[in-house]
Amino acid sequence: MARLRIEQLSKKFGASKNDTDADPYAVRSVSLDIADGEFLVLLGPSGCGKSTLLRMIAGLEEPSSGRILLDDNDITDQAPQQRDLAMVFQSYALYPHLTVAKNIGFPLRARRTPRAAIAERVEQVADVLGLGELLRRRPAALSGGQRQRVALARAMVRDPGAFLMDEPLSNLDAKLRSATRAELISLHRRLGATFLYVTHDQVEAMTMADRIALLNAGRVEQLGTPTELYDRPHSTFVAGFLGSPPMNLFPAVVTERAGELFLVADGIDTALGIEAAEFGADVEVTAGVRPEQLRLDPASVQIRGKATMVENLGSEELIHFSTGEHMLCARAPRPAGVNADDAIALRVDPAHIHLFDTATGLRMSWHQPQQGSLFEHPAPAVATA
Ligand SMILES: Nc1ncnc2c1ncn2[C@@H]1O[C@H](COP(=O)(O)OP(=O)(O)OP(=O)(O)O)[C@@H](O)[C@H]1O
Ligand SMILES: [Mg+2]
Repeated sequence: MARLRIEQLSKKFGASKNDTDADPYAVRSVSLDIADGEFLVLLGPSGCGKSTLLRMIAGLEEPSSGRILLDDNDITDQAPQQRDLAMVFQSYALYPHLTVAKNIGFPLRARRTPRAAIAERVEQVADVLGLGELLRRRPAALSGGQRQRVALARAMVRDPGAFLMDEPLSNLDAKLRSATRAELISLHRRLGATFLYVTHDQVEAMTMADRIALLNAGRVEQLGTPTELYDRPHSTFVAGFLGSPPMNLFPAVVTERAGELFLVADGIDTALGIEAAEFGADVEVTAGVRPEQLRLDPASVQIRGKATMVENLGSEELIHFSTGEHMLCARAPRPAGVNADDAIALRVDPAHIHLFDTATGLRMSWHQPQQGSLFEHPAPAVATA
């Protein structure tokens, strides 16, 4: 069991000659403090540097700068096999000619552990992962989910300080993925081990993580609990990444009428629930509202639009609609009674309207005019535990 700390870790790949415009940094000065026993998920779009970060921690890639600490030991320059870490890859990388038992025991054989001790440990781990019946089979005779569990068992057999996992479920079909996800969550609870888990799947991140570090172009865009990222995204990037479908984002103006602030855009005119004397000029913003916070309400005058398409999700419907030139989406229980081309009216609770600075994409929060500007940005989200 271990605390894992990363201090200002960067990775610069040499730019190739025909590719001089490309950004050479895959990871830029990332700092994370992962508590003993924590499940931290690295989330982000393809190419944002998740695997590179994990591979540096595992010792498979040399950092350009920065430090990696496991408990109080600086492991930055240690060889991979010296680090008390176990890595599980997306491709299971099992040895096809070895039985399940031999595959699981491999890391112990490589460390010259006595045979009897290996057999005992392999049995223990196989038991935990429900592989007891399969120990004599070879990988070719296993399902994808079983292979994934063998790869996990091989990582667990050494009892490492921390587990590093790079999209370990992405090869599985939807049903197996959700079953293995549940298994991993309960495994983490039972072992109490530190997990650093890479995924670009937000459902995995939301359901498994104690905290999520959302990466964008090699940097940590926001670090926090799944709820914090979902309910208070620090930027339009976070707002647009989490949620399916993601938050509606549209240009709007904040304006004052009789001491109260309103959000105004094409087809939208709704109170923000903020009192403001002496507001002065209108402020251009990027407004955000999650689809599930847009409620159909025929009596509403806040949001008026025209349905363009209705998607049936089974239990719910997604109502795509236009307000002026903007396309928005609302999520409603089925049947919502809306058809394409219908004129619709919706409302939103002001508490669920997010405001972002259009130039920087950063979240704006309201405060009293005498303290300076009307809106301010939060402090940068990158912090330690
Ligand atoms: N060996 C390498 N040489 C040069 N560039 C690399 C190398 N490995 C990765 N990169 C670049 O670094 C960036 C980050 O890659 P990385 O594999 O870490 O992304 P990722 O977040 O894991 O993406 P994915 O979700 O697709 O796996 C990408 O732009 C990639 O092209
Ligand atoms: Mg990757």
